[in-house]
Amino acid sequence: MILVIFGPPGAGKGTQSRFIAQELKVLHISTGDILRNAIEGQTELGKKACDYMSAGELVPDDLVSGMIFERIKEPDADAGFILDGYPRNLNQAIELDRMLESLSKKVDLVVNIVVSDEEIIRRISGRRICDLCGRVTHVEYDPQINSDMCDVCGGELKIRMDDTKKAIKNRLNVYYSETLPVLNYYMAKGIVKDANGWGEKNNIFSEILNLIEK
Ligand code: AP5
Repeated sequence: MILVIFGPPGAGKGTQSRFIAQELKVLHISTGDILRNAIEGQTELGKKACDYMSAGELVPDDLVSGMIFERIKEPDADAGFILDGYPRNLNQAIELDRMLESLSKKVDLVVNIVVSDEEIIRRISGRRICDLCGRVTHVEYDPQINSDMCDVCGGELKIRMDDTKKAIKNRLNVYYSETLPVLNYYMAKGIVKDANGWGEKNNIFSEILNLIEK
């Protein structure tokens, strides 16, 4: 099964993709995570992506699509995968279809997580990530005993480099102008299902699992 988890920045795509990957034992491919690892590792890709990401702009299509194609050709992607953060514009959606076709595969389902802009800003502004284990927490929704320390491993909690006011505004603009048209592309294929992104993470997860099972 090839699943695209779709939604605005901060909708909970990463959170839900991790739950689904664990439950269904399929690969979770997050373009944001791959790019952040590349920046941390100071690779060529990371150096090219860094300025775009910190400004909340899309990284150029050729870099991202090339990176995705390499990843989905790996043997651990044979059983299916979840795409989180890709495709992010029409060009990438068309490119994904082309890549999948060359592997005799196709996108089976697009789950669109629906959340208001107000909630998105609250979620992104309060997000804190553990420097050591990578756990994603939230100052309001998932408060830690010590506000700057991870409850699980004791690592330091950090703010993501693109979770600044200016970058969040830009990411939302980019979402509405470039990413949202991707939804129409998949709607025309009849493979989009909406999931209510409000409320408890586990309830949203159950709703998404139901959509997948149907
Ligand atoms: P990416 O990493 O994909 O970021 P994003 O799409 O902006 O999404 P986020 O990671 O911010 O949010 P999310 O939806 O995963 O929410 P999360 O689960 O963390 O991309 C970052 C950048 O990389 C892009 O701007 C671009 O520069 C580049 N990039 C990536 N892909 C690209 C592509 N294809 N092409 C070009 N460039 C690309 O949740 C958010 C917070 O809310 C967390 O604190 C979480 O704990 C909390 N939360 C989650 N669910 C709930 C809930 N139900 N209730 C309360 N709190 C919740």
